[in-house]
Amino acid sequence: TNSSTQEISNQLLAYLVISVIGYTATDRLIPVIKNYTLRKGISGKDLGKRGTKLEEKSIPEALGIVPGAIFLICLTLALVGFATSHPKKLLDLNSALLSVCFMLFLGFTDDVLDWPWRYKLILPTVASLPLLCCYNGSTSIVVPIQVRPLLMQHDALTTLGKILCFFIVVDENANGSIVNLGLWYFLYMGMLAVFCTNAINIYAGINGLEVGQSFVIASAVLFHNLLELHSDSGENHLFSAMIMTSFIGCSLGLLKHNWYPAQVFVGDTYCYFAGMVFGVVGILGHFSKTLLLFFIPQVLNFLYSIPQLFKIVPCPRHRLPKFNAETGLMQPSTFECKAHEYKWLKWGKNKNATQVANMTVVNLTLQILGPMSEERLCVVLLAFQVLSCAFGLLVRYYIAQFFFDK
Ligand code: UD1
Ligand code: MG
Repeated sequence: TNSSTQEISNQLLAYLVISVIGYTATDRLIPVIKNYTLRKGISGKDLGKRGTKLEEKSIPEALGIVPGAIFLICLTLALVGFATSHPKKLLDLNSALLSVCFMLFLGFTDDVLDWPWRYKLILPTVASLPLLCCYNGSTSIVVPIQVRPLLMQHDALTTLGKILCFFIVVDENANGSIVNLGLWYFLYMGMLAVFCTNAINIYAGINGLEVGQSFVIASAVLFHNLLELHSDSGENHLFSAMIMTSFIGCSLGLLKHNWYPAQVFVGDTYCYFAGMVFGVVGILGHFSKTLLLFFIPQVLNFLYSIPQLFKIVPCPRHRLPKFNAETGLMQPSTFECKAHEYKWLKWGKNKNATQVANMTVVNLTLQILGPMSEERLCVVLLAFQVLSCAFGLLVRYYIAQFFFDK
């Protein structure tokens, strides 16, 4: 109806205003707060400037704490308006706030204490607890049309499936179109939070990339939300749009200071914070599959990184590309690989090489397109992110209808 359309646009306008305030506050506060983190030694060397006079400079780290804190304030303000019109959503909103807040805190401890790798998987799991414990939404998923006959026809298979995957219930009345994952759904949600946070953190290392990718993904999510505002699940999308507008404002404030040449580093604080924000909207907005479509570069980067992440081949502390001071360009970084131990890596043309390029999409881009400046590399990767998100929307709006009925 007209009045509700009016109400929705009023709310969106309010979120936009809050977002602009978030941007301004973040932009103004970072130059102040960075002196304090620097004073406490929470800083890092810019590894992409080695061999230049910028090498010696300590860059303040963990500045993600600023957009994170401002975001929490923005969302608390936005909550006032949202909760009066959608009181049932208050529990969702509070648990979302609590999880993001928890993640921000744990991310900051990572920047200060430098947790070993295995801990990084535990932190998001812990932070997603408030979200999971308060979750009272559906734990069912819609089954692709092509799979439904399988679930219905083969009784034996279904029974076997039920025994193997205890807790899973096929809704017999819905012709196999809906499967209740029960407790497995909680596992899925927890894993989504772990994936989103770490995927952003390991697709990083050049100025502007962490915040840049988050900004592009958030814009895609917001676009998707706006398209869905008047659908049956419009309320969920308004909820997500509220979170995304604040997030985009605060992130842009940080990006201004993190863009090449970076004045501040965002730290694990920001990577975890951003990942958790995406996890929260994906879960509570019930569009986690669409969300994952926007994460294509991160998924590729994760899959490609598996040999190094799981220590099948060595993984150095830093895998970010190497700066060549003579040319002023970035080139792929490598790791030392003992030829006799890792024979399978020698399938490529360099049969005797013991130096293998680190397995990240950032390095792969440099291998394919050749060396380029840090700023250009970031622009190229962000362009790839935009293309991936556009592809994700294409899949969601045109291809998904062949697998799912609307
Ligand atoms: C992850 C990556 C690591 C990458 C690092 C930097 C994996 C398994 N881990 O580790 O390969 O090198 O992020 O993003 O893939 N830095 C820069 N320029 C930047 C951003 C960061 O030089 O634009 C350097 C700074 O020295 C900064 C440090 O990276 O202090 C931050 O690294 P940190 O976030 O602690 O690394 P991880 O997240 O553990
Ligand atoms: Mg990091």
